[in-house]
Amino acid sequence: MINTAAAWYREFLPPEELHSPEMDESGWDAEAERMTWWGAFSDRRLVGVTGSEPIGDVLLLRHIYVLPEHQRSGVAGALIRRAEEISPDSVRMIVAGTYTANYKARGFLEKNGYRPAAESESVLRTYYDIPEDRLLGSIAYVKRVGSRGQ
Ligand SMILES: CC(C)(COP(=O)(O)OP(=O)(O)OC[C@H]1O[C@@H](n2cnc3c(N)ncnc32)[C@H](O)[C@@H]1OP(=O)(O)O)[C@@H](O)C(=O)NCCC(=O)NCCS
Repeated sequence: MINTAAAWYREFLPPEELHSPEMDESGWDAEAERMTWWGAFSDRRLVGVTGSEPIGDVLLLRHIYVLPEHQRSGVAGALIRRAEEISPDSVRMIVAGTYTANYKARGFLEKNGYRPAAESESVLRTYYDIPEDRLLGSIAYVKRVGSRGQ
């Protein structure tokens, strides 16, 4: 599912920057050891996923993917709302990173109350263990939450 949705990256990334497949089985298992996977289903079929991981007072959102034919119908919004709602009380900021050129994800994050981080590269380096090329082509979005974040 992730690899199908990630085919969209071919539309804006140069071939040498594509990571194919975006997610393999060992990558999935490794991520599951650190984070909670959230799934959205339609007619018992998985149509969207995201992962969340609390790190201190930050909740990290990673891998937000929705199958193309189910996009723009609120699936990803419902997924991240769920992850946000049940995050620990200690969380004061939610962080999500995406490719700078990924206008779908950026629009999605902005629609859901996220804003570009002032120190985007530093936020990415702190929370994301991703290859350097991907890091340099990415942007961090943040949303303040909870009583301490307001
Ligand atoms: C980004 C993504 C997760 C959004 O999922 P979604 O279920 O479509 O999102 P929602 O329906 O909750 O929100 C829709 C909003 O997302 C943005 N968006 C989604 N698809 C878009 C498109 N084709 N063009 C422009 N904006 C788009 C818009 O802001 C849209 O709001 P609008 O319809 O009022 O303009 C989905 O497009 C996707 O899986 N993309 C491919 C993988 C990817 O880029 N993942 C992000 C990794 S961080």
